[in-house]
Amino acid sequence: MEIIIRPTPEAASGVTANLIARLLHDKPNAVLGLATGDTVVPLYRQLVAMKLDWSRVKTFNLDEYVGLSPEHPQSYHSFMWENLFQHLNIKKESVYLPDGQATDIPAYCALYEESIREAGGIDLQLLGIGTDGHIGFNEPTSSLVSRTRIKTLTEQTRADKVPSFGGQDQVPHHVITMGVGTIMEARQIALLAFGRNKAQAVADAVEGPITAMIPASILQMHPTAKIVLDEPAAVQLKKADYYRWVYNHKPDSQRF
Ligand code: F6R
Repeated sequence: MEIIIRPTPEAASGVTANLIARLLHDKPNAVLGLATGDTVVPLYRQLVAMKLDWSRVKTFNLDEYVGLSPEHPQSYHSFMWENLFQHLNIKKESVYLPDGQATDIPAYCALYEESIREAGGIDLQLLGIGTDGHIGFNEPTSSLVSRTRIKTLTEQTRADKVPSFGGQDQVPHHVITMGVGTIMEARQIALLAFGRNKAQAVADAVEGPITAMIPASILQMHPTAKIVLDEPAAVQLKKADYYRWVYNHKPDSQRF
């Protein structure tokens, strides 16, 4: 794991935007795994401003709320088009998001997995982290080898999502999410976390034991996972000084 601590969300997003820009430069037909949520908004803003060529890129989003139509203002379809896709030259048919209205959900999830395989697998998966340690919507006790499927949100996650929905009773209980096993197959992973309210989950994921109670802790088993933090999200890390030193003294060949 590489732990990168930057002073602000903007600086941390800049590091991640450069990582994506480098990937698209080296591999113009790259396959990206994308996340939604407050954390990725500054990153998407920076990616739009970079005016990269997305004409050959394919994207797969992590998750979607069950029951919401793509047009619903709180759907992750709406989020992605508003914050990113409408500003890029990406082809509509190259954008994949789970269908929250699928009728046969197990069959649909198998198809989603198949589409990822057919695309050649995910080159870089972007992740946020829940305050309970979830990645995608793999809540605590999710199998660490799970595949795309339906999951039930914890009350903690539903409470965290209230600001975008306006009331907890409006937040759906069910989601379709890529599994932990699906995520772990990505060739590169970048997890972003900002703010003090993520500090405990980050410390558990990075410095705690690998456990299904903190699904993000499985990233310790990924060969190239990067954990990109702002200072407040790093306050509970015991080895924060070491991570800062490593980042500031990287050989040029390892910079991105
Ligand atoms: C969203 C997703 C979630 C979020 C997480 C953090 O696609 O997969 O894991 O990344 O809930 O959300 P924010 O960024 O809103 O704090």
